[in-house]
Amino acid sequence: MTDHDHSHGAGSEQPDDVADLFTQETWDARYAESDRLWSGRPNARLVEHVTGVTPGDALDVGAGEGADAVWLAGQGWRVTALDVSQVALERTAAHAVEAGVGLRVTTRRHDLMRGAPLEGTFDLVSAQYLHPPSDRFDEIIGALGAAVRPGGLLLVVGHHPEDEAMKLRGGHRHPELLFEPEKVVTALAEQDWEILVADTPTREVLRQEQPAVARDTVVLARRR
Ligand SMILES: C[S@@+](CC[C@H](N)C(=O)[O-])C[C@H]1O[C@@H](n2cnc3c(N)ncnc32)[C@H](O)[C@@H]1O
Repeated sequence: MTDHDHSHGAGSEQPDDVADLFTQETWDARYAESDRLWSGRPNARLVEHVTGVTPGDALDVGAGEGADAVWLAGQGWRVTALDVSQVALERTAAHAVEAGVGLRVTTRRHDLMRGAPLEGTFDLVSAQYLHPPSDRFDEIIGALGAAVRPGGLLLVVGHHPEDEAMKLRGGHRHPELLFEPEKVVTALAEQDWEILVADTPTREVLRQEQPAVARDTVVLARRR
């Protein structure tokens, strides 16, 4: 099971002000609290949907400590790992070197909330458990989509609002950030995208040592 734990400690470390959830200060501090925030394993939905896809250039948005970037590089992708946190990106670079794929992983510090377009275009843009604020959701999904080359893939994965495993831990402090597939699909211009997957699958996870069922939102789209 490639359970990548995104439970955020029952919300205890989440700032009260939603705007603070997207700053370098918040995330650098959060990553600096421990040597490893996430599991170190690639996200299950990424592995599920990208295994077997012909590798090219990939952008991992909100890459965190780089488990997905390292996995993609191991599959032959040239990866740009983008995050607002310099601490996270330094970990990503170190993990890529340790895994022997340092030459295929580039890190880029970028603050999505500044609204600048993403530099470059890619055969795959992946955003795993990045939950943009509602008032910026369409704009940010649009920016991710604009970075996908014609024929390329956009994979957006998030926690579904009905994620029982998260509820077991007291829920997310900002439940309005969790989203359903329709929200992603609506943000993508219909004429530009073929929706390959818009689903809400479950997966078994461990929450405080107890088995639990998490529900994800998964949208995979191909740019026409
Ligand atoms: C929930 S974590 C997910 C990390 C990784 N994708 C994973 O699945 O382990 C969200 C990530 O988004 C990054 N992030 C938050 N706000 C951001 C922003 N304004 N611009 C770019 N990245 C941001 C955080 O630093 C963090 O690494």
